[in-house]
Amino acid sequence: MDEHQARLRASDLEDSGDVGINPTLNPTMGEIIATRFSRRDLLRGSLAVAAISATVGNRALAANEQTARKVQAATFDFKEIEAGVDQTHHVAEGYDAQVLLRWGDPLFPDAPEFDPMNQTAESQARQFGYNTDFIGYTPIDGSSEHGLLVANHEYTNEELMFPGVGVQDAKDVNFSKMTKDLVDIELAAHGGAVVEIRRVDGTWQVIKNSKYNRRITAKTPMEITGPAAGHDRMKTSADPSGRKVLGMLNNCAGGVTPWGTWLSCEENFNGYFWGKLDENHHEARNYKRYGIGTPAYAWGKFHDRFDLAKEPNEANRFGWVVEIDPFDPTFVPKKRTALGRTKHEGAAGITNSDGRYVIYLGDDERFDYVYKFVTAGKVDPQNRAANFGLLDEGTLYVAKYNPDGTGPWLPLVHGQGPLTEANGFKSQADVLIETRRAADLVGATKMDRPEDIEANPTTNRVYVMLTNNTRRKEDQVDAANPRANNAFGHIVEMMPEGGNHAAVNFTWEVLVKCGDPSVAEVGATFSSETTKSGWFGMPDNCAIDSQGRLWISTDGNNAKATGRADGLWALETEGELRGTSKHFFRVPVGGELCGPFFTPNDESLFLAVQHPGEVDEEGASFENPATRWPDFKDDMPTRPSVLVITKQGGGKIA
Ligand code: FEO
Ligand code: CA
Ligand code: CA
Repeated sequence: MDEHQARLRASDLEDSGDVGINPTLNPTMGEIIATRFSRRDLLRGSLAVAAISATVGNRALAANEQTARKVQAATFDFKEIEAGVDQTHHVAEGYDAQVLLRWGDPLFPDAPEFDPMNQTAESQARQFGYNTDFIGYTPIDGSSEHGLLVANHEYTNEELMFPGVGVQDAKDVNFSKMTKDLVDIELAAHGGAVVEIRRVDGTWQVIKNSKYNRRITAKTPMEITGPAAGHDRMKTSADPSGRKVLGMLNNCAGGVTPWGTWLSCEENFNGYFWGKLDENHHEARNYKRYGIGTPAYAWGKFHDRFDLAKEPNEANRFGWVVEIDPFDPTFVPKKRTALGRTKHEGAAGITNSDGRYVIYLGDDERFDYVYKFVTAGKVDPQNRAANFGLLDEGTLYVAKYNPDGTGPWLPLVHGQGPLTEANGFKSQADVLIETRRAADLVGATKMDRPEDIEANPTTNRVYVMLTNNTRRKEDQVDAANPRANNAFGHIVEMMPEGGNHAAVNFTWEVLVKCGDPSVAEVGATFSSETTKSGWFGMPDNCAIDSQGRLWISTDGNNAKATGRADGLWALETEGELRGTSKHFFRVPVGGELCGPFFTPNDESLFLAVQHPGEVDEEGASFENPATRWPDFKDDMPTRPSVLVITKQGGGKIA
């Protein structure tokens, strides 16, 4: 999801997309609770420890002192780049940024070369797709120089992809120029890719004749597994079993499991469905909560399954986390319903000390929730195949952030609390199909667009990226979402009780409130060591390197919003420098930065640039993008691409 899409849908398409449609009165406290620590306290380790101890107890205090001592010396040693906006990308001095894969690059020996004036669905299905968000690297034989890149192709920008088309998802245009051929190219440009890559003499190469290479599209056959599989609400005329579905939609971020599978998350799936259900229809309440029925794509014009009037259940088959084995190109992707149905941002996980796998999940919408899933079984490191059913059984929880810095994980289990037939939940399948409504009823905390969430294995702390929420009013401010009109977002740090990710309690604090710290009204809390290039707004994706340090990529910075392009920043989380941010990379004008993902040895860093050249104010189009990055050729459109960063002369990125 990018700011352009959010704006479009907010202004033109009532209750579609990321427009904040949580109808409940779940806690907003009704008063402005001042930040629990002053900025100065937050910045200074010992004072911060004292402040924390007053609210979160001795255990957190001890953990904080310990980590503060341990990592006092950990800092990023690269030379920061200058923030700004121009036609190309910039990486810190001493690093190479290689364009590894562009939209349209052929992935198979028989795949056609990219020909933007003669696009077809068949060609696109054999080429790298559009707008990569998540990238993961799965090593072959443990190597950091030979492995499989897995990439989500989140969504398409018709105005930048196709000549003579312009923006189509606006009321006054109403998809008038979208033909079936163009729609079918869009279906083929969605989904994901598996690409074998190898580093030869320091340079990464794509292996085109790999037996692993694969394109997954919005038409790829998939299986529905877990508690909602086979339920009546999952059945359609094409699939009376309720267990088979074609394709995945709007796959945003994701994760890579310890058993080497790729988790790909369906985010704004609502935008693909046409038509409105009658308000008495049994799915009307469900679909309204997800913003379904106000399309951002013309697919329902040509494909019956995307038309609610013809297939009222099809939309229940999207909004899931999909597990894919990249090492088996014949693997049928599995939609793991036990993880719930939301606008899933990501699915990064951690193996808990007791062997269970715990996945953290953000639902990216204004006023939606933070979730986690704890498997019933344990990861078996000796037997890869034994892990393939792990994500079908376990417990889904949603987070409640108490104002005193504590919080419970509230289980979403049929029969518990309000999740009963009296409220329309006849089984766990109903709870999962309507995950958002279940979370509403148990009293989860409404957050400012939860995006990536990552656990740091070296400290067990968990970082939650909250992009922004300009719709939060003064009387809706709470301790975990402490700013009204939150234009720049913030990051919440969670500490699982006893370092146990399966625990039902946690403590938390705001790590940093984003934005320009030199503008008092913004209320940003970066450390005073942060330079004028070092601060950022709108945290979106993140990664933790093998040294336990946090890297953050952003979505929504631009000349107008912050005077800087989106990019990658490294943020100190421990010791005296906690809250200090440094600028490492920035994207070309109009772009948004996704990934990031490190190889296990930290020597290569994969980044994805979405929709370069998209600048609303100037009406960017195929013919007139704000940049022609990365090819800079007049006969080439701008192309979303994956980059790989390495250090000149070798070694860890930082
Ligand atoms: Fe696809 Fe929430 O960004
Ligand atoms: Ca994004
Ligand atoms: Ca995102």
